Amino acid sequence: MPLRSPNAGDPAHEHMSPLRGVEDPDRLRALVAAVLAISADLSLPALLRHIVESAVTLIDASYGALGVLDAAGVGLAEFVNVGMTAEQIAAIGHLPEGHGILGLLILEPEPLRLADLGAHPDSFGFPEHHPPMRSFLGVPIRLRDQVFGNLYLTDKHGAGEFSNEDEILAVALAGAAGVAIENSRLLARVQELRLVEDRERIAADLHDTVIQRLFATGLGLQSSVGKIDNPAAAARVQEAVDELDETIRQIRSTIFALQGPRVGGRTLRDEILALATEAAPNLGFEPRVRFEGLIDHRVSDIVGIHLLAVLREALANVVRHAGASRVLVDVSVTSDDLVAKVTDDGIGAGPGRRPGGKGLASLRHRAETLGGTLEVGEGADGNGTTVRWWVPLRADGP
Ligand SMILES: Nc1ncnc2c1ncn2[C@@H]1O[C@H](COP(=O)(O)OP(=O)(O)OP(=O)(O)O)[C@@H](O)[C@H]1O
Ligand SMILES: [Mg+2]
Repeated sequence: MPLRSPNAGDPAHEHMSPLRGVEDPDRLRALVAAVLAISADLSLPALLRHIVESAVTLIDASYGALGVLDAAGVGLAEFVNVGMTAEQIAAIGHLPEGHGILGLLILEPEPLRLADLGAHPDSFGFPEHHPPMRSFLGVPIRLRDQVFGNLYLTDKHGAGEFSNEDEILAVALAGAAGVAIENSRLLARVQELRLVEDRERIAADLHDTVIQRLFATGLGLQSSVGKIDNPAAAARVQEAVDELDETIRQIRSTIFALQGPRVGGRTLRDEILALATEAAPNLGFEPRVRFEGLIDHRVSDIVGIHLLAVLREALANVVRHAGASRVLVDVSVTSDDLVAKVTDDGIGAGPGRRPGGKGLASLRHRAETLGGTLEVGEGADGNGTTVRWWVPLRADGP
């Protein structure tokens, strides 16, 4: 009968010091050294290897391995092996896939000690060219209630099987591995978020500042071309205008590249729906959203960025000023133009409108930058407000 850990599932054991039962001070010292290595500046694979090597030495096993579960938590995504030679690994030809005893540890993440690995009913047997192994100690790598993988040791030196003390040491090392794995995943996540933020900020700066300035400079030069008498000078200025146009076009494609594929693969439609959903808690109800036409195909990224900013401000105004009970966001696209309407049934933005607000002015500015218009009128039945933002769409941008 396989030997389940005597401590597994014993509630009294949970409250005991995890290292109670380890008498040998040298082993405790070695354990501390192994755990402290986590704070060293090692990459995750190097750190995991270090943990397995420490386990093999400390627990006196012939072989040690550490498997990290894949995202679905059913198979092994990574496997670190200590004790086998490169030739042995090559001869087996593949890494363990998480079947048999390893699979059992994945399904039931509790320490498991076996005197004879092959005798367990769940044993799959070893693949061809696998060195024979008998005694086995496996412990889950977990942090709180999340299981990251398992640490395994086989073939205890000088004894028929692994001891309780061995198990306690393995659990401690597995705890260290759990912290290391979570650390590295969190770090990767933070870096990813920072990258997305940086890209968005750079794209926004390029768009809102650099392109606008170049555009204004180009317009200024263009209007002076006609006033220059010297034809050579006029031609030179016209060339500069063309160069500015070309530069703007290049910056735009850089902006597309920075933003695409849209974060998390979201399309403009998705972004608009997300915006409506985000506004719901502040409104007290979910806005209705209607689309018409090929929004995701016809609307360039630049116009899309403006559109999202416009809808966000229009919805914010409904929240702050309208006292509405219904809102319709209506985005309609033809091959020639885009019309975005936000209609509410609130108090209306009539004559009492507070002057000096920046929101509507920026909507107008955004429309005019793209050659379009902004109109603020009454809602559908003469109640409330409709904000109508219209811009032409051209095949070549913006
Ligand atoms: N949906 C609406 N319903 C009622 N009044 C509105 C609505 N939208 C705008 N208004 C009126 O128009 C004014 C100007 O809006 P605008 O967005 O320009 O400025 P604001 O919202 O007051 O301030 P901010 O500069 O923060 O946007 C508002 O103060 C409000 O009186
Ligand atoms: Mg506003």
